[in-house]
Amino acid sequence: MVGSLFAYRRDRLSLLMRMIQECGDVSCFHFGPFPLVLFNTPEYVHNIFVEHAYDFDKGEAMHKAFRPLIGNGIFISEGDFHRRQRKLIAPPFQPRHISSYADLMVKYSEQIQQGWKNGETVDVSQEMTQKMIDERRPNAEERNDLLSILLQARGEDGSRMSDEQISDESLTLFGAGHETTATALTWAWYLLATHPEVYREMQHEVDSVLQDRTPTYADLARLPYTLQVLKETLRLYPPAYAISRVAQHDIDIDGYLIHKNEYALVSPYTLHRRPDYFPDPEKFDPQRFTPENEKLLPRYAYMPFGAGPRICIGNHFAMLEGHLLLAALAQRVTFELVAGQKVAPDPNATLTLRPKRGVKMIVRRRDMGR
Ligand code: HEM
Repeated sequence: MVGSLFAYRRDRLSLLMRMIQECGDVSCFHFGPFPLVLFNTPEYVHNIFVEHAYDFDKGEAMHKAFRPLIGNGIFISEGDFHRRQRKLIAPPFQPRHISSYADLMVKYSEQIQQGWKNGETVDVSQEMTQKMIDERRPNAEERNDLLSILLQARGEDGSRMSDEQISDESLTLFGAGHETTATALTWAWYLLATHPEVYREMQHEVDSVLQDRTPTYADLARLPYTLQVLKETLRLYPPAYAISRVAQHDIDIDGYLIHKNEYALVSPYTLHRRPDYFPDPEKFDPQRFTPENEKLLPRYAYMPFGAGPRICIGNHFAMLEGHLLLAALAQRVTFELVAGQKVAPDPNATLTLRPKRGVKMIVRRRDMGR
């Protein structure tokens, strides 16, 4: 009855890694009485999230857990309703629209870093999360925010969302977008601080491109190494480290039969550690994501934002925010890891892959004496 429940509760990342190391591309474990099948190839990702996207749903357990928090928001809604909501909400998240948020993102990052004193110790995990909300509050009158976007959304027939649905969707977008991006940035600073040669190269790029100017959207195309750092961070520490689906009926996944109500699981954390696509997988190496190297990766070998019709709606937004904030903060400060800390992902992370005890860093201001 218990299956791997205790092992999962104790350390789910180790359990997932053990499964693929011991059993290969498809492995099965029991979560209490429920069988859960872990698929670990890009081809299976395509099968489950693209080809059979509508043969699966998120399952009763997920619906029950999230409904009290986000009602019927897009993260858990299903079927035609999900498709309609997705169409309604998607336009402002498309690449051609998100550039308009860049200045606001940089403005908040400036406010945050200006508050740091040289030599001060901060917990970057908190700084990347709570401070953002604090900085946002006094500026609640800004009109380019997510709530305004939802209020403006119209269906093809001109219809709008009900107030209740707007409330569900804004809670969803805030919940789905906030902690994930903060987690990604936290790991990026940790990896940079522990790989000084990468940190130096990124700061060199930022300094030579920006020449002391605050970054803008237009600068990003000339900051490719900074983007590579972000992508490599999302490979090693994908905030959404496991994505599950429940079969609505018996489904043949390339010869493997998933029965109705069984769980299919894909873990970007284990998938991103396949040595055939990412040699020496534990090594932090932004060179994996030069445009030439990235082209060599099979589709779906790298999927920090999921895949198929339910792929993260905020993926371009998150990449823009991460890219800009890395550049804007690296320009002004260098983070130095406080010695003697054990930084590791929380083995019991339920939603995102956060560091267990935060990450304490000393802020070294780069603008001292200028
Ligand atoms: C680094 C940051 C982020 C990561 C790693 C991430 C990851 C993901 C993943 C893996 C999914 C797919 C879940 C599934 O298939 O079950 C997802 C869905 C979603 N994400 Fe993100 N996300 C990030 C940032 C954001 C942002 C900034 C927003 C909004 C502002 C957002 C909003 C959403 C929403 C609404 C969904 C549900 C989409 C649907 O089911 O149609 N995410 N995200």
